[in-house]
Amino acid sequence: MNLAEDTLLSKALGDEHQSLENTHTKKHVDMAKQHSNLTPDAADAHPSSYYPVPAIIKLASEPLDVPPEHLESSDENMLCYEALSLYESLLPTKESHERRNELANKINSLLKAEWPSCDFKLHVFGSSQNRLGTNFSDVDICVETTSKDLENVRILAKGLKKYGMQRVQCIPWAKVPIVRLWDKDLNLACDINVNNTIALCNTRMIRTYIDIDPRVRPLAMIIKHWAKQRQLSDAGNGGTLSTYAWTCMILNFLQMRQPPILPTLHDQTGEKPPTWFNDDLSSLRGFGKANNESVAGLLYAFFRHFAVEFDYSYHVMSLRYGKYLDKHSKGWDFGRNYRMLCIEEPFDTSRNLGNSVDDISVFGLRKEFQRGVAILYEQCNLSLLCEPYKYNHVIQPVNDSSRADESSPTSETSVASQSLQAPVWVKPKQPPSIRSITEDENDFRPPIRKIDLDTIHTDTVARVKLPRHRPVVKTFP
Ligand code: UTP
Repeated sequence: MNLAEDTLLSKALGDEHQSLENTHTKKHVDMAKQHSNLTPDAADAHPSSYYPVPAIIKLASEPLDVPPEHLESSDENMLCYEALSLYESLLPTKESHERRNELANKINSLLKAEWPSCDFKLHVFGSSQNRLGTNFSDVDICVETTSKDLENVRILAKGLKKYGMQRVQCIPWAKVPIVRLWDKDLNLACDINVNNTIALCNTRMIRTYIDIDPRVRPLAMIIKHWAKQRQLSDAGNGGTLSTYAWTCMILNFLQMRQPPILPTLHDQTGEKPPTWFNDDLSSLRGFGKANNESVAGLLYAFFRHFAVEFDYSYHVMSLRYGKYLDKHSKGWDFGRNYRMLCIEEPFDTSRNLGNSVDDISVFGLRKEFQRGVAILYEQCNLSLLCEPYKYNHVIQPVNDSSRADESSPTSETSVASQSLQAPVWVKPKQPPSIRSITEDENDFRPPIRKIDLDTIHTDTVARVKLPRHRPVVKTFP
């Protein structure tokens, strides 16, 4: 699709938007009215005052002019400086990492005490293991077992509650049933599934991709942070994408750069088992060295790509094949997937990770990308880019004792609100502490120290120079 057609699509979506919003809104009014935690007044209020998705689509609806392909180098240098500073602030502390291990050990001991005769093994997966976690991430745990008792998340939830875990909720209707809980001593939220071992494979896959090139981790952490701040990463609740889907999208974007920064790790011949992928880092490291784009350049390119280049009605992102497939060849050109954002699950290619995003939310996502590229181009301002999205929601705080064990689909909002919120990042006034991001053994946030700006590592990855002046605000040509 060319840009003119793309603009037409945006306009068409704009025209259609009202009727779609009405349908969508009605659905959520009904859901909200059923929601036991809403006050009667709230359920009768205008839906946009408590539900985030209709609010997202209230962003400016005029399509953007096409921003230039690259930032000017002084702007890029300045953005690099900000990006690395934000990245460093997002790195988890060692203390937070240790608390996560402590929680896993605690749950292991609880399960042993409650089911002494059951065989099971606990695995921590997700962002605590794939190097994309922050101090505010939850802990994802998989219980691998053959025990019929433990396989049942309702029974598991009851057992954990008995041993003093708080806000224990069981979500048996989810695609992967989970138990969610909060540990107030360790100040951590935790999701537990049983026997969903495929998540262990994809966690290891993400970690391998991250270890291949030093730009991947900062880029992914910044985009993940932006998505959270803009209320765009809540697949279960907000009609947006899971962090996992965002991660696959970012990795696929890096596979598609010219020259590519990431390879495809999966077997293309069909000879290897479906869960196999190449994890031989000694041969994979340095794959992207022919590409000298900086983290800031990639960040800008990511927003620009999804604001004006990506063809939402035709493309399917495929991390498994390292390219875009077309919706028609996957049979995703009709039904639910038509007009949806399509991201192929790398280990289960029949699954669209984007199917939590309906067509209204796709429209909202595109507007967020357009907002992002405009801010990066015109102001090079990461704190503005990641400014928290505000919507008025009037769900009341929930009393622990009245919380039901088993949550309904609509009550997930109240669970989500228990998670820790990352503080708003503000560009530091003083030069922040920045290390070379090629030191990938540095998993944790270092103690704060002042840096000597003349000694900053200045390779293509961490090109950081202080700008002599702030750029003049420009308009697109
Ligand atoms: P999350 O989406 O919670 O990602 O999925 P995360 O990296 O832990 O993000 P934060 O830091 O909590 O926001 C956690 C893990 O669950 C598995 C993946 O292994 C992912 O790393 N998962 C998630 C799937 O296998 N499929 C999905 O559709 C979603």
